[in-house]
Amino acid sequence: MTTQIAATATPNDKRQAVSRAVDLLRAGEVVALPTETVYGLAADALSAEAVVKIFETKKRPRFDPLIVHLPELAWIERLAVIEEKARPLVERLMARFWPGPLTIVLPRRELVPSIVTAGLETVALRMSAHPLFSEVVRAFGRPLAAPSANRFGRISPTAAAHVMEELSGRIPLIVDGGATEHGIESTVIAIRLGGIEVLRAGPITREEVAKFAEIRVRDAVRTESPGQLPSHYRPQTPLLIAEDISQVAAPKGKRYGALLWSATPFSDTFVESRRLSTTGNLREAAANLFRQLRELDRARLDCIVAEALPEEGLGVAIMDRLRRAAHR
Ligand code: TXA
Ligand code: MG
Repeated sequence: MTTQIAATATPNDKRQAVSRAVDLLRAGEVVALPTETVYGLAADALSAEAVVKIFETKKRPRFDPLIVHLPELAWIERLAVIEEKARPLVERLMARFWPGPLTIVLPRRELVPSIVTAGLETVALRMSAHPLFSEVVRAFGRPLAAPSANRFGRISPTAAAHVMEELSGRIPLIVDGGATEHGIESTVIAIRLGGIEVLRAGPITREEVAKFAEIRVRDAVRTESPGQLPSHYRPQTPLLIAEDISQVAAPKGKRYGALLWSATPFSDTFVESRRLSTTGNLREAAANLFRQLRELDRARLDCIVAEALPEEGLGVAIMDRLRRAAHR
């Protein structure tokens, strides 16, 4: 199979890309689409045969459930049960954060094929704010299951070219929407016993969720998201996290690269370096994270050293990704 990248720069290109994507989805195929977080690998969420292709394409283990992306708000009640006690909170969260990078885990309804939820009695739901994604899912008229469009365990794609690196020859189409805005995957929360549990840190910080919902935010004690494995987002090059990167010395003859937050690059230690943000901005750092990791991973290094970021606000989600990328 040859993988095509569909441009969307002109209105005509965009129209063609959207209709091509919708045709393929109707035919039960998988298609890579941009979202505001990372690129997703989408298929008809209500068709088990289409969803199987997502798992096969990514080589994703079947125990790892997928996020379902809604075409319209009204779909939520067809796919999930909103208990009366939880309703005011769910509605306030939806009103504030949807469409956007927040995924809500709720009890599932029968309509959702069990392959989507990996046999769980809950389903993860989100509504993307990306104009191309929303156009495709609305035109398709049914919910789309979409994980990040990378091979399992690898770095999530934030540009069409990254999807090409990951899945070339395995999917028919990548809709090119340019670089994604947030650069890290959505925040995943579960609503349980009137409280919110953060299952995956993301662009919407726990402070934002807590403030808005006026509830106690409690971290899941065990790994509730089966996909939240200790090793994930893994570059091929070994990755280390350094609290004080100025103390790092590359062994003689070894090529070390640096992913920097606040330190100035030391050309005597590092043969390559990238800076997550030039202004100390965590949003910019998140948006650059996966692209810069990919660039460093291609630089034939023996080791990538990432400087630790402050674990506040978005820094929590960035450090979560770095720790998983560093885990072997
Ligand atoms: O930003 C995003 O969320 C991107 C874009 C494409 O929407 N999608 C994404 O999907 O990151 P994926 O499959 O790479 O990550 C989904 C995460 C996994 O950690 C999975 O275990 C968790 O959501 N998840 C899915 N369904 C769940 C459920 N019912 N209960 C708990 N966790 C769930
Ligand atoms: Mg993923």
